[in-house]
Amino acid sequence: MSYKRNPRILVFDSGVGGLSIAQEIQRLHPGCDLIYASDNAAFPYGTKGETELIARVDLVLRRLLDEHPADILVIACNTASTLTLPHVRRCFDLPVVGVVPAIKPAARVSHSKVIGLLATPATVVRPYTLQLMEDYAADCTVIPVGNAELVQLAEAKLRGVIPDQRRLKSILAPFANHPQGRRMDTVVLACTHFPLLRAELTQHLGPHVALVDSGEAIARRVGHWLHTLTLEPGIQAPRNVAMFTLRSGDIDTLAPALADLGFNEVATVPV
Ligand code: DGL
Repeated sequence: MSYKRNPRILVFDSGVGGLSIAQEIQRLHPGCDLIYASDNAAFPYGTKGETELIARVDLVLRRLLDEHPADILVIACNTASTLTLPHVRRCFDLPVVGVVPAIKPAARVSHSKVIGLLATPATVVRPYTLQLMEDYAADCTVIPVGNAELVQLAEAKLRGVIPDQRRLKSILAPFANHPQGRRMDTVVLACTHFPLLRAELTQHLGPHVALVDSGEAIARRVGHWLHTLTLEPGIQAPRNVAMFTLRSGDIDTLAPALADLGFNEVATVPV
């Protein structure tokens, strides 16, 4: 069956981190309409309790999908995916692609078998994450660093603020201070905000440390669903909209970065 419109993909995160995923989807599948939704009213997710977060994600997705029906939903947030995926898949009637820590590919590429796990404080302790480590990185030493401030630095960077080098150094210090830290050759960027700081992270960790994220794998998974649903990109010129759950003046400071990523339209869905 062929559609008379582009496939519509809802990419959802607490803040701007999911733009790192949206970028990969645009790269692999140009010609889709992307709705990028940031739940800025409830940002950040990484310090929220589990019951609160499940309820929030449910509420926001209901609201967004009611107003903007989509063909595919991408939960572009490790913190939300590692907790809410079973609930969302059970309660929403569309294909759901979740973003979870790229521990399996990281363990595969690491030669030293010492890998870092950089995520929000919530993601590093999720049973889902611990299970990934047990299943795919049992032969590795995993150094977990859960940090909420790094998320804020990524948000600020997209608003034009240069990340503070001293803060970065102190956030990453647990890697250097770990007894196996010198042997670490791979770090999993297990928060979608962190690829936005790739250059700064490489500067501090060194070029010998590979930074592994889930972006490309997620875009390929989206491709699987486009194919399965026989959705055809490129029917019309793509229309990309950035949505926020809270109207705030701060959104204006994001406009240049959003425009760079092809999001020229900005809207608010108050939740
Ligand atoms: N971008 C989200 C993630 O991938 C979390 C950011 C937050 O704490 O809200 O985990």
